[in-house]
Amino acid sequence: MLERLLYRSQATHKLGSLHLFTLLARARERNLRLGITGHLLYLDERFVQCIEGPPSSIETLWQRLQVDDRHFNLELLARGPLEARRFPDWTMAFSSYASFRRFSLPGFFPIDEQGMNEFTERCVRT
Ligand SMILES: Cc1cc2nc3c(=O)[nH]c(=O)nc-3n(C[C@H](O)[C@H](O)[C@H](O)COP(=O)(O)O)c2cc1C
Repeated sequence: MLERLLYRSQATHKLGSLHLFTLLARARERNLRLGITGHLLYLDERFVQCIEGPPSSIETLWQRLQVDDRHFNLELLARGPLEARRFPDWTMAFSSYASFRRFSLPGFFPIDEQGMNEFTERCVRT
């Protein structure tokens, strides 16, 4: 059985790219162990994250996310069972400003002027 959880939050500081990439690299390592896949959007000092995996792993991560002081005002947008993963190939795909392209980050997807791309749409779809 699989569960999906979608939330948004506000970044505590204007996170520098180095902090963001460190967060992402660690998240990907843990997600691999927890069987979690998903997508993270960072835009205008806000996050929108979609996590999917075994319900126990989702609960563990959700508890940690809520006490992580790198973001606040967490708002749960959706949570429920999922038939098939939307991001089977990504321990955490990452979408943000096209200017981040210069870092050649694996699993990075630039957003358009509306803050969207194929991944952000897949993440928020009901
Ligand atoms: C916006 C945001 C997204 C995060 N995404 C993940 C994630 O996908 N997987 C993960 O393990 N940790 C993620 N973290 C980090 C967790 O909040 C937490 O620091 C991490 O799981 C380690 O928890 P621990 O220090 O209690 O072991 C994220 C943190 C933030 C601020």
